[in-house]
Parts: sequence; structure tokens; C-alpha cells
Amino acid sequence: MSFSVLGTGSYLPPRVVTNDDLSAFLDTSDEWITQRVGIRSRHVSATETAADMALRAAEAALANSGITAGEIDLILAASVSAETVSPSVSCLVQRGLGVSCPAFDLNAACSAFLFLLDTADAFFARGGVNRILVIGAERMSRIVDWTDRSTAVIFGDGAGAMVLARGGEGEYHPAQLNVTGGDEVIRIPQNHGNSPFWEGDDSRPYIFMDGQNTFKFAVNAICHDVKTVVAEAGLTLDDIDWIIPHQANIRILDFAARRLGVPMEKIATGIETTGNTSSASIPIITDALWRSGRLLRGQTVVLTAFGGGLASAACVLKW
Ligand code: UT7
Repeated sequence: MSFSVLGTGSYLPPRVVTNDDLSAFLDTSDEWITQRVGIRSRHVSATETAADMALRAAEAALANSGITAGEIDLILAASVSAETVSPSVSCLVQRGLGVSCPAFDLNAACSAFLFLLDTADAFFARGGVNRILVIGAERMSRIVDWTDRSTAVIFGDGAGAMVLARGGEGEYHPAQLNVTGGDEVIRIPQNHGNSPFWEGDDSRPYIFMDGQNTFKFAVNAICHDVKTVVAEAGLTLDDIDWIIPHQANIRILDFAARRLGVPMEKIATGIETTGNTSSASIPIITDALWRSGRLLRGQTVVLTAFGGGLASAACVLKW
């Protein structure tokens, strides 16, 4: 079974935080952040939760698709930074939209949006479902340690969504989903609670990332996953109009592009003004491409993501 993307939407909170704003309280500089990561500013939420942003992105995606919320049969969402574990983001969006379809979240960190697309594909194959709303929403500012310059400068907040329809003119080729489980390179511990019986570690509930090992993992994952899905779709890299990657570091994308032999003009980049928004980054950058008229119907795109888990994923889509 295949599906088409009917429309996209995104939401970025209005508060823009520049590198100079961060330099005011962290030992960092605009020069270091732009050169090493490629970020100039990011959006940071002052009042919206991850679920609030998810709802805004979902409403924008529905409007862009020309369908009503009542026509959605299933809502799938992902977030590593939501304020509540339950209700999940998708359940809060379901209430916000005033609909009654099933809704659930999954967790695959920064790769989650592609795990969601593959889950949607399986639901279309299962039958009885014609339209699915898929959302990545993150308030990363909730889970970074704002005293740690090695992570605080990298992340941003926002949400992105797509409305998918069973069949249609588009084509979805099943994804590569890869996991090498472990917490040495990236971890986001939860609060350990106040159990008087707990005798284990009490690690701080903030993102930890071994940047250099994540960097190497990311470049290898992009190159391996993109080549694999393109070959599995019976295509070559010359057939691909856009590679739309998870936005984590402009240098990661530059390395991967050179190793793949793909010009940077074919790689979608938006990290400069959003930072790394984890599971939201792919739908946010895709929405920007689509609304600006650079992504066109009939084009072939590869989506590629990597991050905590360690997980990575890629898929080929005819738009
Ligand atoms: O979405 C999940 C996936 N995440 C990623 O893909 C992230 C992948 N990793 C990266 O993007 C990069 O590794 C980072 C941006 C996290 C770090 O860049 P780097 O070039 O690997 O820097 P580094 O960790 O090797 O640190 C180099 C130096 C260190 O100083 P010394 O030890 O050489 O004196 C750091 O303390 O840069 C220092 N440093 C900073 N300096 C100014 C680290 N963070 C900062 C900072 N401002 N914000």
C-alpha cells in the first residue's frame, strides 16, 4: 500500500533567540555556533507546550490539505520533550481538533517522524483508514540544560505536520528503520521520582550528547540509509530532486553531501533559523520547501533522519 501527502503545516513560537542572546549568559559566541553548527537563531517557546505547537501545526496542515479535521481517521505524533507522558501529544491534538479518531504517540527521538510515516503506511495497508495526520512536536528548551553550552546552543522548539491520504498520485517506498540500542552517545533521562525504594542512579533529567560520536554516526547513517532506500526503490541519486534530512548540524549535511556526491543545492537546509527541533525538524523543513514552491508535485524526495536510540531512518517519497 502507498500513500500521498495531501498537505503540510508547521508552527514556530514567536520568540526568536539569537546566538548573541545566548552569549549573554553562556561561554559561547555567534562565531563558534555559526561555524561549528550553522545556526544563527532558533525559536524558543515562552508559553506554548509541545502539544499546543502540535495543534497549531496540525491545523495548518489540514488547511493546506483542504480537508476538515473530521475527515482524519488516525492521529500519530512523536515528541521527546512533551510536558505530559499521558495524555500523549496526539491525544491532546485530538481533543483540540474536536474529533474522536484513535490517536497515539511513538518514540524514536529525532528519527521519529520517519517511524511515524512507516507506521501510517502499515495502517493504510491494514485497511479502514483513509487519512492520517502525522505530527512531530518538540519543546526542546524544556529538556536542555541551559548551563551546558555544548547542548543549549543547538536545539530549538517547534512542530511540523503532514496529512497523508491512502493511494493517490504520490508514492511511498517502505523505509529503512535502523536501531543500535544504547545510551552511551545520546540519552534523555526522565526524573527518577521520589520512590523511597529506588536505589539506582539519579541522573539529571536533561539531554546528554557525545557530540563527536553523534556526528560520525549521523554522517554514516545518512550515507548508508539514503543509498539503500534509493537502490531499493530502483532509482539512482540522479533521480532524486530533494534530500530532506533531519536538521542537526550544517557540517553533517555538508560531509554527507560530499560523500554521496550530491550537490548541496539538492539538500534541504533550514537549521540556520530553527536549530535542531528533533522529531519536528523534517516536517518543518518540508513545509517550508512546499510552501515556498521549491518542492513540486511529481518530484522524488528522500527523507533521512538520525539521533537518539541510536536510531536512523530514510524513505523515498514521490511528492
Ligand atoms: O539530533 C540529534 C543528533 N545530534 C547531532 O547530530 C549532533 C552531532 N554533533 C554535533 O553537531 C557537534 O559535535 C557539536 C555541535 C555538538 C559540537 O561540535 P564539535 O565541533 O564536535 O565540538 P567539540 O564537542 O569537539 O568541542 C570543541 C571545542 C571544545 O573546547 P576544547 O576542549 O577544544 O577547548 C568545547 O568545549 O568547542 C567547545 N565548545 C564550545 N565553544 C563555544 C563546545 N560547545 C561550545 C559552544 N561555544 N557552544
